Amino acid sequence: MAIIDELRADSPVRRIRDLPGPRGLPMLGNALQIQRERLHRTAEQWAREYGEVFRFRIGSREFVVVSNPEMVATMLRDRPDGFQRTDRLNAAARELGFSGLFSANGEEWKRQRPMVLRGLDPAHIKAFHPTLVKVTQRFERRWRNAAGAGRAIDLQSDLMRYTVDVTAGLAFGTDINTVESDDEIIQKHLDKLLPALFKRVLSPLPHWLWVRRRADPALGEHLRALRSAVDGFIAGARLRLADQPQLRERPGNLIEAMVAERDRPGSALTDEDVSGNVLTMLLAGEDTTANTLAWMIWLLHCHPEVAQRAAEEVRSMVGEGSHPTHEQLGQLDFVEACVHETMRLKPVAPIIIQQVVRDTVVGGLALPAGTPVMCLMRPAAVDAAHFPDPQAFRPERWLAGDGPARAAGSAKRVAMPFGAGPRTCPGRYLALSEMKMVAAMLLGAFEIADVSTADGTEVQERLALTMSPVGLKLRLRVRK
Ligand code: HEM
Repeated sequence: MAIIDELRADSPVRRIRDLPGPRGLPMLGNALQIQRERLHRTAEQWAREYGEVFRFRIGSREFVVVSNPEMVATMLRDRPDGFQRTDRLNAAARELGFSGLFSANGEEWKRQRPMVLRGLDPAHIKAFHPTLVKVTQRFERRWRNAAGAGRAIDLQSDLMRYTVDVTAGLAFGTDINTVESDDEIIQKHLDKLLPALFKRVLSPLPHWLWVRRRADPALGEHLRALRSAVDGFIAGARLRLADQPQLRERPGNLIEAMVAERDRPGSALTDEDVSGNVLTMLLAGEDTTANTLAWMIWLLHCHPEVAQRAAEEVRSMVGEGSHPTHEQLGQLDFVEACVHETMRLKPVAPIIIQQVVRDTVVGGLALPAGTPVMCLMRPAAVDAAHFPDPQAFRPERWLAGDGPARAAGSAKRVAMPFGAGPRTCPGRYLALSEMKMVAAMLLGAFEIADVSTADGTEVQERLALTMSPVGLKLRLRVRK
């Protein structure tokens, strides 16, 4: 008998129906109180009102929301057996053509994870460094041109050119060079995909499965364009494998490893797995890293004394007009602390939704199989119990020896911007390298003249699976 059925009426274990939560309407639940793009803010506000564990409903789908960091960590670590991505995410991602590691569950996920981990491991990042420098040099030229012409830079869109070029270089061995192009070749299409996925993940019913033919025709165009780009990357990898058969044994990058595995007799990997993962890499690597960088550049602009200290670190370590070596990148401690502090205040994944695989009890709460659980990642990271003066942007709190040992020791257990446990982000080494590289380029070559929204209003957070700042423009001055 399942443990939930065994609970006696006087058991200290709570059931979902005992949890507090916002009052909703019959049938609709709390759907009308939620604006998708502000879901994280609404849930964070509810957490302040109802506590670290509460529930709410969208139509008939009841979500349990948890912001207690120990409970969150317990659930994220208990994967894949206890928790997994939701069936809804899995179905929606498949429908949109990117059923890869991010949305996969069970055996499918177990098969794919080691391959993706290897493709993004520190050894590959180190070997990739010369290409990272080349893409960063191009990016610097782009920003020098904008500064020279007195032109405002569309911050996120420029940063996404950089992150897509880097991901394609590392994972697909392809130099797509969108940084030196004014067309928005691939980003234009990628941009549409995460919001479409997020909408499906949250909708009360999977209506798109029944009315597929009438579904958003523009989205169909974007999907076709992406499919053709993905096919191009795969065809490139196949050509290289045909030219250099030794690559089948020792693939140079993720896509070659996946294609070689796909072609192995008896392989369980399908063509859909390969193309789904190519798209997954582009999507997972683009928005997250670009948005974190955009938030960091904005925070540095708001805190000139911090920007000054970071610039001094860069300028004392890296020669005039050059970029950090791989070793120097590892020594930019204060710049890295700025990245961690940015992710604490502005985690681009403020929500991680999981589904219970088998009946379980976490933190004294009984969770039946199938329950969707929404983990809120920010509340604990901005709680004074864990970080003194929690709303302040103080990167030095991440440096060893600074601040109370309690905060330094617990910091990484409480702020989990890359998730935790067996499904922790496999792109974190790449992301950290990219972010430190762009920060070093920016602080070494330029002064930040302004970062603001076009109409000067306060910058807003927008959630579309990842959380981005809305409409930031950057103005730079070339350093004398
Ligand atoms: C600042 C940058 C980034 C942040 C904040 C971030 C954050 C995250 C988070 C929170 C997760 C979910 C983890 C979990 O469920 O415990 C995740 C998963 C993932 N990320 Fe990242 N990510 C970043 C960059 C990247 C990059 C650059 C790539 C690859 C090019 C990448 C690829 C992935 C993949 C494939 C997964 C799914 C892993 C799995 O389910 O096994 N991410 N990321």
